[in-house]
Amino acid sequence: MRVTGLGHAGLFIETLGGSVLCDPWVHPAFFGSWFPFPDNRGLDWEKFGKADYLYVSHRHRDHFDPKLLTQVVPTDITVLLPEYPTDDLESDLRSLGYNNILYTKAGEVIERNGLRILVTPMRAPSDGPVGDSSLSLDDGTAVILDQNDAHPLDIDALLGFGKVDAYFTQFSGAIWWPMAYDLTLEEKQHFAQLKREAQTKRAQFYINKIDAPHVFPMAGPPMFLDDDLFPFNGQGKNGESIFTDQVEFLDVLKQSHPETAGHVFLPGTVVDINNGNVTVTNELFSDAEIADMFANKWAYFENQRTTRQAELVAEKASRAPVPADLFEQVKAWWEPLMKRAPILCDGIGALVRFTIGDDDLVADFPKGEVRRYNDEACRYWFTIPADLVATNLRDHEIDWSNSIFLSVRFTAGRIGKFNEYLYTFMKCLSEQRIDYVENWYSEQSDTGEDIRIDDWLVQRRCPHLRADLSKAGTIENGVLTCSLHDWKFDLASGRCLTSQGHEIRASKI
Ligand code: FES
Repeated sequence: MRVTGLGHAGLFIETLGGSVLCDPWVHPAFFGSWFPFPDNRGLDWEKFGKADYLYVSHRHRDHFDPKLLTQVVPTDITVLLPEYPTDDLESDLRSLGYNNILYTKAGEVIERNGLRILVTPMRAPSDGPVGDSSLSLDDGTAVILDQNDAHPLDIDALLGFGKVDAYFTQFSGAIWWPMAYDLTLEEKQHFAQLKREAQTKRAQFYINKIDAPHVFPMAGPPMFLDDDLFPFNGQGKNGESIFTDQVEFLDVLKQSHPETAGHVFLPGTVVDINNGNVTVTNELFSDAEIADMFANKWAYFENQRTTRQAELVAEKASRAPVPADLFEQVKAWWEPLMKRAPILCDGIGALVRFTIGDDDLVADFPKGEVRRYNDEACRYWFTIPADLVATNLRDHEIDWSNSIFLSVRFTAGRIGKFNEYLYTFMKCLSEQRIDYVENWYSEQSDTGEDIRIDDWLVQRRCPHLRADLSKAGTIENGVLTCSLHDWKFDLASGRCLTSQGHEIRASKI
């Protein structure tokens, strides 16, 4: 088996049973905020477009690049579609002409021409854009796992597919916390460091569990080339950002897992795997170029910023004009959804202020109402450029979280803790999605089973997404941390320290 890196989460996988093109991404995403790092435009995209299968793991625009697909991938390609509860990804692909769809099923291995294929979907409200997935392949010469952004809970099921020879996983996540928040620089530096550490710990958790001899960190970090966002590159111009790079991560991995071979995996990196033998070469960048790009990272970003401004100008020109009735449009869209979502509204339980250009509005979730702001006390607040909202209104974009928020082109503040329900609402602006997450939350009940960790008796299932805490939970100073998403719980009081609600049942033995 041969795996070629295409940049970010992009893979071109050649197997004895056919080739698979995974998550190819070239064009700037999220309102021109994100560019692939390093620049992957020099790859032979025509060649990769001729794959037998197309796998788009999820709808995030750094994994799903409609413009690139249209340019290089013929519409008769076979699409490996994850089994998601909503049909948004399928509709997006069909609207581009990709109708040759192979519907995969959760937990079911497909066999074609000697190639075993397993697509594992994640379907919780907080899994990416309500749906994320991983891909396992086995052609008899190698078993690989492309986990990209997914955070699978049932790791045993993944391992049941076969012992993984090469493991491709995200290590440097995508979030706007703390960069977009109303915080002092010192606070941002502090929280950014915690976030980087948490992301590294989560990647290490999965590396431990998957236990593959070869690990390829991928699916991040992005590059920010707009002047407003440029300081967010890497760990930030002033230490306020969260994007650990490949070399920094591999340095940590070398210390924590000296027995694991970690490899820098970039556009043009070619990995040949044959019955346990793995060789890694680079075809797009020379070793000297790679060393220089990491040793002088800001110079690399600067060069990219200078040469790629035209793409940013084109993106800005493509945004919608701000409509005079922006407030009325938001109200007419959101209020019926709020009425359908008692669990989400209850979980948010507060007033949220949105300052959008000249419009100042309040989403009153307890009352299910959107009205003009009138000096009310709000627990959460967002300031968003009006042309971003106008574009989402024009395009009827149902996921504002994974469009506006991931662009980091906004500011936010809050009193108290992160509220998962609020961000879930912002990514579920359709009846189908709202109904799905309402049902999902109503079915989340703890099984009543307790387990012992150190000298505490705690519920087995994590109150966040039900990970098995006998595997993912650790306790330090009375605080339980679940390694899956680094949520923390104060065991004496049962309070979740990471988000509103989500109490845990625990007692000291
Ligand atoms: S399952 Fe997400 S923190 Fe436990």
